[in-house]
Amino acid sequence: MSKPHPIIIDTDPGQDDAVAILLALASPEFEVLGITAVAGNVPLALTELNARKICELAGRSDIKVYSGAIRPMVRSLVTAEEVHGKTGLDGPVLPDPVMPLQTQHAVDFLVDTFMSHPAGTITLCTLGPLTNVALALVREPRIASRIKQIVAMGGGYFEQGNVTPSAEFNIYVDPHAARIVFEAGIPLTLIPLDCTHQALTTASRVEAFRAMPNASGPAVAAMLDFFERFDENKYGTDGGPLHDPCVIAWLLKPSLFTGRLVNVSVECESELTMGATVVDWWGVTKRPRNATVVRSIDAEAFFNLLIDRIAKLP
Ligand code: RIB
Ligand code: CA
Repeated sequence: MSKPHPIIIDTDPGQDDAVAILLALASPEFEVLGITAVAGNVPLALTELNARKICELAGRSDIKVYSGAIRPMVRSLVTAEEVHGKTGLDGPVLPDPVMPLQTQHAVDFLVDTFMSHPAGTITLCTLGPLTNVALALVREPRIASRIKQIVAMGGGYFEQGNVTPSAEFNIYVDPHAARIVFEAGIPLTLIPLDCTHQALTTASRVEAFRAMPNASGPAVAAMLDFFERFDENKYGTDGGPLHDPCVIAWLLKPSLFTGRLVNVSVECESELTMGATVVDWWGVTKRPRNATVVRSIDAEAFFNLLIDRIAKLP
């Protein structure tokens, strides 16, 4: 096997974040250099705690978890306890972590890591609001040319929004951060609701996790039992969209996805459309093509991959 691909995961766990982190930790293709927590689904004190709980569930107390931004750059924090529960990881009962939280701030970890590693070698996977990443870019603009690529779950265009009619949660929470990241000139793959809404946690898929003889499988099933109910009620579907693991799966098997290099711009002025990701899908403007926007996924193959990998965890 070739040398593992170094990645950093920026996240706001969140049950779907948790499954994404488990997928990454179950995949020898990756070397997870660190996990940086950001305020989003729930406040920062819970997202960093949840990140450590998930690492210990995977038997990876060696992973370095860092705490980052406690609120968005400009706007007040908006959280999503109605989706994720008051802990942000409702569903399974996971013990409080023994592993320590790193003392270095997540933004400093991001800057130091990208400045000290060879340029173009580390992929940044973002699963939440982009506050940490934007702050790192403002703190040290030189990292923009050193980040290999960003693969981000966020946005929505043909599928509209999920927190307002026009905005997806990760972008809505910190639209100013998203604009900074989208305009930084970093190779960017955006995995929006247009893709993740095709990846539904149907009953048969959840049962595959529940039937696993390890601890991680049933824990994932319990997470999904809780997490999916909000979207099942909203969309009237069998299961809810499993957003964040699509980021990790895209790195593992990009052939499961299709997308197009286009311009994506973020609304930061209008309260009506705040956080909207305006995708120039048909190239009608001269705005720079700054992102590969992913629009489809082979959902069955995605879940087969996910189930295969989660089964390998403790
Ligand atoms: O809109 C879905 C995104 O917002 C996911 O990343 C979910 O975890 C929340 O952060
Ligand atoms: Ca998330």
